[in-house]
Amino acid sequence: MVSMYLIAPNFSDLMEPNVEFKTFPDGDSYARINDISKCQGEDVALFHRLYPKQNTAIFNACQILHTLKRVGARTTLVSPYLPYSRQDKTFLMGEALSAQVLCKLLNDFGAVKLVTVDCHFLKKEGESEYANLKIHNISANKLLVEHARKKIGLEHLEVISPDQGANYLVSEFGGKSMSKVRGDYDKDNGAEAYRSVQKVEREFDVDGKNILIMDDMISTGGTMIKAVENVKKGKARKVFCAATHGFFLNDSLEKLKKISDGVFTTNSIPNPVAEVDILPLLKGAVEAKPAAPSQ
Ligand code: R5P
Repeated sequence: MVSMYLIAPNFSDLMEPNVEFKTFPDGDSYARINDISKCQGEDVALFHRLYPKQNTAIFNACQILHTLKRVGARTTLVSPYLPYSRQDKTFLMGEALSAQVLCKLLNDFGAVKLVTVDCHFLKKEGESEYANLKIHNISANKLLVEHARKKIGLEHLEVISPDQGANYLVSEFGGKSMSKVRGDYDKDNGAEAYRSVQKVEREFDVDGKNILIMDDMISTGGTMIKAVENVKKGKARKVFCAATHGFFLNDSLEKLKKISDGVFTTNSIPNPVAEVDILPLLKGAVEAKPAAPSQ
């Protein structure tokens, strides 16, 4: 049973912060838990987003985790979006497996568990372990579909995903998945590691149907934009876009609003269309008793 909630300032849209972060004049990060005496030897839940400004946010998380470890607290880190989760495989030889680096780091600094939502490399709900870190992964798919049905009011809404990787989000609603083809790293932009979405292919009919395209994240929007264009070409009646995590880099939100009938996400990352609240899911996971080990 968790006896103490610690809330970082980047969670202030959802809960009152009680952890302090400042910056020293040279840019070093300063962190302090004012109520540290109450954490001694306790089970603590730290609500701290690891995005945006992920590298600073990760360092801040390690500062707090380490401070808690020093007083013997057992900390569950609650971070609804896990950055670097798409770097769990290498594309070229010699690339870093950054997803492993991050999980190992969090575990080393004292996270006994990470509670997160639609973690890209897990593709299933429940408890698992990755690079020594215990992870409780929750899916927001039911909340997103429920929200779509309430907001849009279309009884016959087909839920599909833009690629096979997100099939786990839609399969329980009888949803089908398209296939995505990415290119190589962009050679003209040497500083950015980005493989553009070349095409999204579909082998099922959408003619005259109301479609909800659901993905774990919308980042540059490349995937979702191609998916919307595809189903519109296939004469879908209405097309809506939903994702658990909405970054909406560049002008992708404006583009998606223009070409679709609606876009929304959860509030895992604050953004103008974060319409689905995941805080109850996060609190539920923190308070849940761990499942008994299978015989
Ligand atoms: C990747 O496979 C993910 O599930 C998303 O489809 C992808 O990360 C979205 O990124 P973007 O918006 O940049 O296409």
